[in-house]
Amino acid sequence: MNDELFEINSERIVRAGISRRLFLRTTLAGGASLLAGRAATIFAAASASDNTSFTIGGDLAVNRLGFGAMRLTGEGIWGWPPDRENARKVLRRAVDLGANLIDTADAYGPETDELLIAEALYPYPKGLVIATKGGNTRPGPGQWVPDGRPEYLKQCVDKSLKRLKLDRIDLYQLHRVDPKVPMEDSLGALKEAQSAGKIRHIGLSEVFREQVARARKTVPIVTVQNRYNITDRKWENTLRYCEKEQIGFMPWAPVGGTRGMTNTALEKAAKDHGVTIYQLGLAWLLHRSPVMLPIPGTSSLAHLEENMATAKVKLSADEWKAIDALAGQA
Ligand SMILES: NC(=O)c1ccc[n+]([C@@H]2O[C@H](COP(=O)([O-])OP(=O)(O)OC[C@H]3O[C@@H](n4cnc5c(N)ncnc54)[C@H](OP(=O)(O)O)[C@@H]3O)[C@@H](O)[C@H]2O)c1
Repeated sequence: MNDELFEINSERIVRAGISRRLFLRTTLAGGASLLAGRAATIFAAASASDNTSFTIGGDLAVNRLGFGAMRLTGEGIWGWPPDRENARKVLRRAVDLGANLIDTADAYGPETDELLIAEALYPYPKGLVIATKGGNTRPGPGQWVPDGRPEYLKQCVDKSLKRLKLDRIDLYQLHRVDPKVPMEDSLGALKEAQSAGKIRHIGLSEVFREQVARARKTVPIVTVQNRYNITDRKWENTLRYCEKEQIGFMPWAPVGGTRGMTNTALEKAAKDHGVTIYQLGLAWLLHRSPVMLPIPGTSSLAHLEENMATAKVKLSADEWKAIDALAGQA
């Protein structure tokens, strides 16, 4: 079973209430700490100088800590979420807190996730980047089957444009490279959509570095979205390639996906620093690379507040070194 199938099969949707809004500035560098799990930071405006932003494809400046909308669906990433109004609130709050990179896919729901984003956020605030994907079909809950045929992808783009109420999709990602279709054919369809003005930039998902290099011979690739977090670094080589080539790396399952963050040593370290293990995991990602664009997902306003509050978490080089060592332990 691949990672995505594991994620989906063991999917759980938890409904949660609205958290208290405590706007605390989070900084650990000077020894100051925050109340674990109860702090939220008003996200600073994107600024290249403080390293909180990244420019995708040379022209799309985003705050590096984004939001993944996949969890705003029904069980098995299927259908509408159990509490649709709560899901809309989560999306609006994510934007309020400074997330201006929102990740979705036509396969989430399918379709409902994109529709929900338009419901909650259209007309879109200036600077909001919606990154969607195509090329993964959904025969049923928890099931994912790649389809990279050019004719299929072309109509995926048109349908996403309609659902998202956009004239152009800022970032369109090939959800999976279909082993039955030459990558060049799938990307050729996206290149055509790009030339027609339907797509601004193109990204890939779950790919080896060699595949990124090969794809770039057909079309510029501006982002890669692979599973990656503090305890799962299988795609380290792809990340290094992205870093070298200034390609945005959007780690999915940044807080462990459905499995969550369960490392006992990291749990203790987080507590010692006055944050939660989720905040520590996200802060580690932001620290790990300047091209890292985490897209943590949640259906809970309380978890959203907690996750977005990691933006300003800073540890010293020695502290990060110690945490890195702990991450390798069970
Ligand atoms: N490209 C791909 O193949 C692919 C695959 C999967 C996902 N994605 C994208 O990546 C995004 C993130 O991935 P993901 O949702 O699988 O993984 P994730 O963001 O690491 O984890 C989400 C899970 O963690 C829980 N969670 C989040 N914050 C929490 C917190 N502070 N405390 C406790 N639990 C917390 C959520 O439950 P609650 O709802 O209860 O908070 C949810 O079950 C998705 O939204 C999607 O956009 C892409």
